[in-house]
Amino acid sequence: MEIIAIANQKGGVAKTTTAVNLASALALIGKKRVLLIDLDAQGNATTSLGLDKNELDYTVADVLLDDVPLVKTIVASQHLDVVGANRDLAGIDVSLADVANAPLLLKNALKNAKLDYDYVIMDCAPSLSMLTVNALVATDGVIIPMQCEYFALEGIADLIDTIEKLTQINPKLYIRGVVRTMYDGRSTLAQDVSAELANYFGEKLYKTVIPRSIRLAEAPSFGKSIFEYEKSSKGAIAYHQLMNEVLGQP
Ligand SMILES: Nc1ncnc2c1ncn2[C@@H]1O[C@H](COP(=O)(O)OP(=O)(O)OP(=O)(O)O)[C@@H](O)[C@H]1O
Ligand SMILES: [Mg+2]
Repeated sequence: MEIIAIANQKGGVAKTTTAVNLASALALIGKKRVLLIDLDAQGNATTSLGLDKNELDYTVADVLLDDVPLVKTIVASQHLDVVGANRDLAGIDVSLADVANAPLLLKNALKNAKLDYDYVIMDCAPSLSMLTVNALVATDGVIIPMQCEYFALEGIADLIDTIEKLTQINPKLYIRGVVRTMYDGRSTLAQDVSAELANYFGEKLYKTVIPRSIRLAEAPSFGKSIFEYEKSSKGAIAYHQLMNEVLGQP
């Protein structure tokens, strides 16, 4: 079972879009068994997969705060399984402030659950909070979505720093790849930043570039992945390609 966290503390860089569509590509095209864990109080990944975040019996908050077994919180969406999130996750940093093994809660819950999936994909919140720390401790690889805009690299040093520090708790933690999202090839700035990312991340930068596409932005409002919403769109083709790259990684 491979675990991948989709993380970047910068907001709105397409973490959720990438988590949902990479997970869906793996399930629908790759025919893999996939679990998506939503680790953001916004619950956007949960909603994007057609689930009503306010009608969930359990969320990942129950796992982290009340020791509810992870398997009990799994719900089935169309093509993959989901551990959902909603506002119950807000304020979790305060609740976990005095918990000694707080960074290990998700890792332990996953271990105890003895899951039978090919891939577990985790959608992180736009912060380096205890939730994101839990994801980074529980995962092996991290995929970082980045928008090719000014300030793109700002803050990335903090994420890389956090990843390096957490290798003390989780020696297997590594940056699996960096993916350029919402790319507009006509913009000179995007081209410049893209070149800068290639320079900075080298081999870690995925060749696949996710183009700006209105279809990708529309799909969540129908509770569908891009493959169910419009499988011939350029966004669908791009996330299919990204899946191939991810599957091809050693
Ligand atoms: N390739 C794309 N083309 C056009 N719109 C996109 C694309 N990818 C994402 N979006 C839109 O951009 C917005 C931000 O994307 P998303 O929610 O995936 O980012 P995020 O990093 O998860 O945000 P947050 O930090 O709030 O969790 C959303 O409205 C989404 O639909
Ligand atoms: Mg998000």
